[in-house]
Amino acid sequence: MATAGSGGQPTSSAGQTALGGGGASTAGGSSGAGTGGQAMAEAGQAGATDGEPPDVWFQPSDVTIARTPPMGWNSWNAFKCNYTATDIEAMADALVSSGMQAAGYEYLNIDDCWADHRAADGTIVAASNFPNGIKPVVDYIHSKGLKAGLYTTVGDGTCVGRPGSRGHTSQDANTYASWGVDYAKIDWCGVQGDPATNWRDWRDALKATGRPIVFSICTAGRFDPWNWAYATGNLWRTTDDINPNWSWILQILDQNEPLASLARPGAWNDPDMLEVGNGINTWDIQSDAQNKTHFSLWAMMAAPLIAGNDLRKMTPAVKAVLTNPEVIAVDQDPLGYQGHRVRHAADVELWVKPLSGSGERAVALFNRGTAAESITIDWAELGLSPGTAMVRDLWAQKDLGTLANFSTEIQPQATTLLKITGKPPAFPSGHAYLSDLTPSYASNYWGPIERDQSNGEQAANDGKPLSIAKTPFAKGLGVHAGSLVRYALGARCSSFSVQVGVDDDVTGAGSVRFIVSADGAPLADSGVMKSGDAPKKFTLNVTGKHELKLLANNADDGNNFDHADWADAVLDCL
Ligand code: GLA
Repeated sequence: MATAGSGGQPTSSAGQTALGGGGASTAGGSSGAGTGGQAMAEAGQAGATDGEPPDVWFQPSDVTIARTPPMGWNSWNAFKCNYTATDIEAMADALVSSGMQAAGYEYLNIDDCWADHRAADGTIVAASNFPNGIKPVVDYIHSKGLKAGLYTTVGDGTCVGRPGSRGHTSQDANTYASWGVDYAKIDWCGVQGDPATNWRDWRDALKATGRPIVFSICTAGRFDPWNWAYATGNLWRTTDDINPNWSWILQILDQNEPLASLARPGAWNDPDMLEVGNGINTWDIQSDAQNKTHFSLWAMMAAPLIAGNDLRKMTPAVKAVLTNPEVIAVDQDPLGYQGHRVRHAADVELWVKPLSGSGERAVALFNRGTAAESITIDWAELGLSPGTAMVRDLWAQKDLGTLANFSTEIQPQATTLLKITGKPPAFPSGHAYLSDLTPSYASNYWGPIERDQSNGEQAANDGKPLSIAKTPFAKGLGVHAGSLVRYALGARCSSFSVQVGVDDDVTGAGSVRFIVSADGAPLADSGVMKSGDAPKKFTLNVTGKHELKLLANNADDGNNFDHADWADAVLDCL
């Protein structure tokens, strides 16, 4: 069903995305713990740390690049139009000398305000702030072992009125490639016609150059990018422009969080560039706690980490935030799962991001409030088995012990960021209903994913009995598209069967596309299903598979009324 239309932003409810409903009992079977000292991914796949193969349905320009969220620096937040080629080269020097490059920051991106006019043959020509043009600056960036990014818009004019690319898409893509550009941020100002077509043309033009160029779609949150950009770019802006205002940064967080199901290696939600170190006003991001919270939660969301501060003037505290290797490792984890909020009580939020190591979870505890708050978490909330788990504080880079649960007090606006390594849930065994298993990952657009009931959009257990086209189902998952649920199989199962459809509990017309894959290979695609359509049944061979992936896509028309049922979802295993 259509969303509010252009400019519409997703609104988060409580933002819970963990499984709700009945007990999280798990069938027996061996766990995915490591053997012989070799780390094994939770799915039970030896050495499986590289996520999954390039996505089989949704191909952006080039999924062989940006396999982890891009990291770098961009000129816009710090400079707007007040910079020259010399400043850009100084920033390349600073990326290296500050240790940012060693920490993983790779791209140096020139944003708006470099283009001036077109030559007689249509070639874009740089303004006087680049007296020798763009190519020597790109060469300088490359000489530092960095990569170079450039900006334009799909329209006639950029957002500050410089020449855009309309009518010159292929020519500009070829020019960028000939200059050695590695990253293209393509903005929305002046867009004409069908928005998505504009960026698809850019995707095709970049691909045609033959050069691997990261394709950054910047709609500034307009034109419902969750309906198309996720299948077009390596990253796509999900919100309007960031600025250092603390409460606006939190709004951006809330808008990006429910889109977790779209992120995957090669393709990332982009909640915009970092404002760490940029606060000026009292209402801005200023304190160490605020800077760490911003960076922690961007890392949890597998967001591109594009610094936006003047690296020549960075304080030691700001540098320490931007270069903390253990926090960066959360963002860059090769599994590429976007972390999400699983609990939100009063002002305290619990976020979880599964990492590639067996039983590893990045966990953020964020206090939005104005007073210190206490929180206790247990391992079930993280999708881990009970028992003890190793807890490490990532900001302090310090082990906190092997614990049965974790309690702490969080200061206002602060985030405690942890890596918790526990026992993954047991692999399924026998005739195992998904709603009786613990998933390795579960994200949902609205409300928690429900067991054996439909999605009620808000709290756990607020759904109704599962029902598709008047057919009732006792067992199954009630999700809200876009939703992604994953289960580790450990190569122990032979068959997965499921009936899918839009639940009868919606008051309007929902539309969902159900997609099942295992180990990156497609198994089933329902096509678009609407409210009232009879359930579609799939019986799928999962022999030898390590991981089952259930994607409920919004059918590219927004998320309203998309109550999606994975009914009678059952595995047959050893
Ligand atoms: C838009 C983008 C920003 C920046 C400016 C430049 O507002 O969203 O990120 O690129 O244009 O004009």
